[in-house]
Amino acid sequence: MIPGDGIGQEVVAQGLKVLNAVLPADVKLETKEYDLGARRWHRTGETLPDAELDALKTHDAILLGAIGDPSVPSGVLERGLLLKLRFAFDHFINLRPSKLFPNTATPLAGRPDIDFVVVREGTEGPYTGNGGSLRTGTPAEVATEVSVNTAYGVERVVRDAFARAQARPRKKLTLVHKNNVLVFAGHLWKNIFDTVAKEYPDVTTDYLHVDAATIFFVTQPERFDVIVTDNLFGDILTDLAAAVTGGIGLAASGNINPTGAFPSMFEPVHGSAPDIAGQGKADPTATVLSVALLLRHLGYESEAARIEDAVQADLAARDGSARTTDEIGDALAVRVSG
Ligand code: IPM
Ligand code: MN
Repeated sequence: MIPGDGIGQEVVAQGLKVLNAVLPADVKLETKEYDLGARRWHRTGETLPDAELDALKTHDAILLGAIGDPSVPSGVLERGLLLKLRFAFDHFINLRPSKLFPNTATPLAGRPDIDFVVVREGTEGPYTGNGGSLRTGTPAEVATEVSVNTAYGVERVVRDAFARAQARPRKKLTLVHKNNVLVFAGHLWKNIFDTVAKEYPDVTTDYLHVDAATIFFVTQPERFDVIVTDNLFGDILTDLAAAVTGGIGLAASGNINPTGAFPSMFEPVHGSAPDIAGQGKADPTATVLSVALLLRHLGYESEAARIEDAVQADLAARDGSARTTDEIGDALAVRVSG
């Protein structure tokens, strides 16, 4: 566990509570907590020392709360800790499912069932830190931020997305990019997508530019089943997806290395929310749903499904009165063990 910063501490505690409640008695859970994030950085100047990276490698999976704090310069923890973990453990699948949750304040309430999953590439694109700045701080400054797209990296995420689409009832995969402007990367993605598609004749394929995709997320979200897209487009689209399907407090994610070479890492899509940290106001549901993704990844399918059912039932039973982080965690723990 890496609870991290802000509300990360509070929501990971609830995730662990529900995990303990759902596991069968004969499964022995061993956990270790890593003190990483803003407090550690202030204390020692470290973000993710090699010794801890090596230690983290020995676990079956990682549960992360949130990283980032206004007292730390922007990018230090994001790049030095969160992205370092995703890159070091080669988390090339960033899996972000969206369902229309019951009884939530969403502009899409009452719409036909919305149930799609974004397969966001996790190790390339504009996230690699390739770029630079010339004449920094002068009126003549020039900054570049280079998006890296390799055939190797694109093919492996596209293949994973096709396999996921084939395993779902609707068998539909949409590629989202911007190949009318980003012609080099766009054509690499589209060519690989079209080539792999030939191996999956039963999967229906579609292509959308990312700007058009944002319209359909709001006006016609039921058209999506599986979406595959690059790292930055996926980052932006999944915040939008969360907002329209029930709120960012419910959105779960998995940073997955399907080869098993490194532990996969599960985390809520939301951030550390320093404005409400320490007040017991954070909704731990996104973290609890991330625990479900973690369990599914490790082969505990029925336990994962029990958590997801518990969340559906908990939301459906809500009466609108405010609940604390702890109360929501308790309610979910009771539901999964009952
Ligand atoms: C996310 C976050 C991260 C990202 C940041 C904190 C580096 O926004 O997990 O979506 O951009 O991937
Ligand atoms: Mn994000």
